[in-house]
Amino acid sequence: MLGINGSARRYGNTYRLLKVALMGAEEAGAETRLIHLYDYRINPCQGCYSDNYLECHFPKKCTLHGEGDDFRRVAELILEADAVIVATPVYWFNASGAVKNLVDRMTALENMIYHVGRSLLDGKTAGFIATGEEAGAAMALAWLTLTFNMMGFHVPAWGTAYYHGKSDALDDRQAVSDAYNVGINVALHARLLNGDIGARREPWYRMLSQEEVERIAEAVRRAAEEEKSREAERRPWLEPG
Ligand SMILES: Cc1cc2nc3c(=O)[nH]c(=O)nc-3n(C[C@H](O)[C@H](O)[C@H](O)COP(=O)(O)O)c2cc1C
Repeated sequence: MLGINGSARRYGNTYRLLKVALMGAEEAGAETRLIHLYDYRINPCQGCYSDNYLECHFPKKCTLHGEGDDFRRVAELILEADAVIVATPVYWFNASGAVKNLVDRMTALENMIYHVGRSLLDGKTAGFIATGEEAGAAMALAWLTLTFNMMGFHVPAWGTAYYHGKSDALDDRQAVSDAYNVGINVALHARLLNGDIGARREPWYRMLSQEEVERIAEAVRRAAEEEKSREAERRPWLEPG
């Protein structure tokens, strides 16, 4: 499973809830990998499709996309994964620009339906996390769910989670529990689709105890601190908060 952190802040709430989700996915048997989207340069879509839909092609065309473009690297990670969790901060009532650029470029993967008869994303599973301060997480989640679904992804029950607030999302029991369940359910769903597990009798949402939430939050806090100290080298102008 690939977790994509769409936030500029590698240690922020988006990262934290994504990391929680990947821990849930691991509990459900998935191998996970987390990438920070800001480590990759994804140039904006050039709209070749709108000139001629056959011009939109991965990898023949969409990799010829200007100096330093990293779309191919991220696309290959998505293609290798059975499942993807996209986590985004809310930037003006939607996903971050970095996530929007990635999604626009993913058109080349979906558009392969016209070249090879199927979207290269067909049958993968996706889940989504959005973190904001006041409002807009639901709009970001709705947009991501609709778009990924129209590219061929399944979005399982309990496949979305959000946090609204100005403090540490790890202090919000509901947010931690929901994010953890995104991980569990995206992983289980991908295994189900791949014929790995049979009909599931248990509820798809696993209720976490207070102790579990605290244990998970503590582990992720440590991981976020490590990210933050690495970030200090990248953005030395930031005063530690
Ligand atoms: C450019 C920008 C736009 C934002 N727009 C919104 C918004 O529309 N709604 C909202 O609730 N928060 C908004 N925020 C606040 C962030 O969503 C919030 O701080 C979030 O926790 C950031 O995630 P991070 O901790 O992973 O960086 C905005 C922040 C920035 C930098």
